[in-house]
Amino acid sequence: MEPGEQQRRWFFHRCRTSGDMKGVSILVALLLGVWGAQALEMSVGKVTTIEAMNGSSVLLPCTYASCIGIFNLEFNWAYNKTDYMIRGLIPMEGKDARIHMYPEWSDRVEFVGNTKTNNNISIVLMNITFEDAGEYTCFGKNPKEKNSKHSATLTLVVVDENVYIRRYLRDPVDNTITTIIMSVVGAIIGLLVLVMAVKSLVTRFVLDKNKEPLVSSTANDNSENGLNSSKAEDKPKPKA
Ligand SMILES: *[C@@H]1O[C@H](CO)[C@@H](O)[C@H](O)[C@H]1NC(C)=O
Ligand SMILES: *[C@@H]1O[C@H](CO)[C@@H](O)[C@H](O)[C@H]1NC(C)=O
Ligand SMILES: *[C@@H]1O[C@H](CO)[C@@H](O)[C@H](O)[C@H]1NC(C)=O
Repeated sequence: MEPGEQQRRWFFHRCRTSGDMKGVSILVALLLGVWGAQALEMSVGKVTTIEAMNGSSVLLPCTYASCIGIFNLEFNWAYNKTDYMIRGLIPMEGKDARIHMYPEWSDRVEFVGNTKTNNNISIVLMNITFEDAGEYTCFGKNPKEKNSKHSATLTLVVVDENVYIRRYLRDPVDNTITTIIMSVVGAIIGLLVLVMAVKSLVTRFVLDKNKEPLVSSTANDNSENGLNSSKAEDKPKPKA
């Protein structure tokens, strides 16, 4: 009783969010006993081509969703459609999957999904080589939908370590180095301009100073020579 309740709640939650018309049409389909072909959906996400470095580990993501609930959902991962890597059985919504590994892959494949809370059946493929390039498909089959099979496929491209580093790691470094060089050059140019400006100011000031003693000495000479001139100089000050 309880699991059915859980499934129904999940069904309503998901189908209401995906649009009332879709929910209604699926409800009609349910009433007619015709399971909608799109009831189970497998998804690898928006990015369907993954580029990875040889020797590294790569996450192969896959999630599932169903409007009519999950009961004994069988899933598997296959390399180039036919070479099975791992298979699992999800007894019902919110339960852990029972996992079976195929021996040829068991030492390099790790199940990292979570069927209890995330509808996630992702795997990690470790120590990849150039031979691992190809298509990886996650299949799902829900007996609740007359066993119709659904799948989603990822393409793995394996690139040389050096190519990968050059493409993904070195370029941003180059950019930061370029930025650093540009800012250093800019700073040096700015500093040079500043130094030249200061220098021209200083030389002008020094020249003015060199001139000043001549002027002040003549002024002093004038004031010393005649009191009138100094009085004339004092007069404008109170006005200002
Ligand atoms: C990746 O491949 C290159 C040869 O293309 C090899 O030199 C390098 O050791 C490989 N790296 C790993 C981690 O296997
Ligand atoms: C993966 O490679 C590392 C070092 O390159 C090695 O220690 C480890 O055993 C390898 N794992 C598998 C599953 O081949
Ligand atoms: C699925 O699980 C893996 C491993 O925990 C995680 O990296 C990934 O993001 C999950 N994907 C989604 C769609 O939740």
